[in-house]
Amino acid sequence: MDGANNQELSQESKVAPPVAGEAAAPPPPSASAKPSPPATRPAPNAAGAVVESASDPPVNKMRRRIVWAAVVGFLTTCFLMFLRFFLPRTIFEPASTFRIGSPGDYALGVDTKWQQQYRIWVTKTSDRLFVIYARCTHLGCTPDWKASENKFKCPCHGSGYDSEGINFEGPAPRPMDRAHVELDPEGQIRVDIARLYDWPKGESSDFDQPGAYISL
Ligand code: FES
Repeated sequence: MDGANNQELSQESKVAPPVAGEAAAPPPPSASAKPSPPATRPAPNAAGAVVESASDPPVNKMRRRIVWAAVVGFLTTCFLMFLRFFLPRTIFEPASTFRIGSPGDYALGVDTKWQQQYRIWVTKTSDRLFVIYARCTHLGCTPDWKASENKFKCPCHGSGYDSEGINFEGPAPRPMDRAHVELDPEGQIRVDIARLYDWPKGESSDFDQPGAYISL
């Protein structure tokens, strides 16, 4: 009986597990063992847990981030374009009506201080004040005021106008237009460049109509 126990103990000592920290020796190849197929998924260990595969290399992570950024950017652009579809397409233009001070602010003759802002000149005579719209009646250029020559001169094709905007030389077919003017309750000159008075060639003039000038 003691001999049998000693034999079992010696057999158990032969198959004892490896000490921690040492690599387990691979089992000896068996003639009857078949070659196992390549592992396509992590094999469960003895306790049933899945063995984690090695993490992705940094190159794969970076590539994935770039793809996601492109997808998100594309979808965001589409969404913004979708929202833009519902917004009104409005062109913001300066108001056509504005105030330019009182008649007492102007001396006799031509005043060019509103040319850049509103494209107008203010002309004051002994009995009226009116506003000339600074657009050549030939092809629409903006003439220059030549104070030394007391005339407007168009730089495009040479048309000339006197101080009241009446054409007298060059290809311009008619005088320059005048803008609607009126005095508001505060005595300020209100100009509306959307309402113009003209003098078509061969026709009667609108320059004497109410609104084409302010009586002084
Ligand atoms: S546009 Fe003024 S002369 Fe032609």
